[in-house]
Amino acid sequence: METLLDHVVLDRDPARTAAEDVFETLRSACLDGLLTPGSKLPSQRQLSRQLGLSRGVVSEALERLLDEGYVTTRHGAGTFVQTAPACPQAAPRTGTARRGPGLSARGDALAGAEMIRGDGEVKPLTPGITALDAFPWKTWSAHRRRAHSECGNRLLGPADPQGDPALRTAIARHVSSMRGVSCDAGQVVIVPSARAAATLAGIALTDPGQRVGVENPGFPGATGGLMLAGAVPTPVPLDGSGMVPEAIPEGVRLIYITPSHQYPMGTVMPLDRRLALVDWARRRGAWIVEDDYDGEFRYEGKPISALYGLGGDHVLYVGTFSKSLFPALRLAYVIAPEPVARALTRAKTAFDGFCNPIDQRTLAHFMATGHFSRHIRRMRQLYAKRREAVIGACDRHLPKNCRVVGTDAGLHVTLLLPEGADDKALARHLAERGITPSALSRYHLAGPVRPGLVCGFANSDEATLEKAIRTVAEVISS
Ligand SMILES: Cc1ncc(COP(=O)(O)O)c(C=O)c1O
Repeated sequence: METLLDHVVLDRDPARTAAEDVFETLRSACLDGLLTPGSKLPSQRQLSRQLGLSRGVVSEALERLLDEGYVTTRHGAGTFVQTAPACPQAAPRTGTARRGPGLSARGDALAGAEMIRGDGEVKPLTPGITALDAFPWKTWSAHRRRAHSECGNRLLGPADPQGDPALRTAIARHVSSMRGVSCDAGQVVIVPSARAAATLAGIALTDPGQRVGVENPGFPGATGGLMLAGAVPTPVPLDGSGMVPEAIPEGVRLIYITPSHQYPMGTVMPLDRRLALVDWARRRGAWIVEDDYDGEFRYEGKPISALYGLGGDHVLYVGTFSKSLFPALRLAYVIAPEPVARALTRAKTAFDGFCNPIDQRTLAHFMATGHFSRHIRRMRQLYAKRREAVIGACDRHLPKNCRVVGTDAGLHVTLLLPEGADDKALARHLAERGITPSALSRYHLAGPVRPGLVCGFANSDEATLEKAIRTVAEVISS
């Protein structure tokens, strides 16, 4: 005799228990209409025989179907498929099959946008990674314990959306002494990252559809962050001094720049260009967002103060601990005129509430006790050696038609390849050999594209850098 389940095939998945397999199979059969509403299921005994599983397994699956409302039982009569299923439409179970009603125009643009992100595995020449092996874990852990004993369970609850006042005070002191940014704690807003700062600035300072200028090539995290805010990133060309003010299109309401060490070309913006951009912002009534992501690490020439000091009322200053401590910390900050700081705080409250209070208080102690400045000094010395190693290795091994630029500051150098080279293919071949610089073309929003490789050096020792650059040379010549 044919039973109701003759058309249902048990869907086995090694990641699930047998009871979960039965539950998922019967649930899908209900949703897909293979088991019609009101029809009676075979008894537990029949089911277990038919499926070749124990009655305990079948009973567990049926109980779950009952709990979730896919079946009902009638006393003495048996188990029936629910007449009003929770979801009347077939729901494909694999992600690839799901289509749904479609993305918004913004979602579409984001889905197609270039986003350079690590997959968690750091390899030689991965850009932007600090010396993870040189992080003072023990000291950090001691400050974390101290934060906990001082604040107790308060650190486990919700926190000030603007950020821990102790951390904001420490940051205000740090940027004033190290970067010439004079501000007070009320102007500092703690955010999870520089890219989140771009989103919040975009929300607070632009209306949906307004154009914002981004460096081309530039930091994809900022471009994506501004798109999230509903702004329309517009590529602005660079010359040897950085973003060209005359090339900023009409209607641009905000520009996002990296004047202390242009990302990824590494240009340090000279004073006359800084002044020209501040003048542009004043004349147009526009904003400058200054991303000073690795300004603490300068190896050649005198330290250059942040652009913020030249035009504070038109400039938002962004700093991130991703480059001064470690990327997984997810703490950064924006410094803004007070009314803007208030709007950013409201935007932050609506966006994600607040940043992790335990990490914030730990960092506040780490800074206030001088460990942060000490760490920066130690890393500057370490990175200076690694930078020399990478430049030396490039000199020794790379063909003469390759040029290394952007070496004055930061955690990466950029290697320019001859015109027409396929940097994406080169990066793919290098990845196969365990070396992961990023293709420079991926940082361009619009052509013409300059091929190259963005090579992080801070997280590798000298011997590793030497070997990695030798491999780059081999792959270029092959
Ligand atoms: C220009 C620039 N700013 C900031 C960051 C750090 O980003 P976040 O704070 O979002 O981790 C990076 C990382 O590569 C960067 O290239």
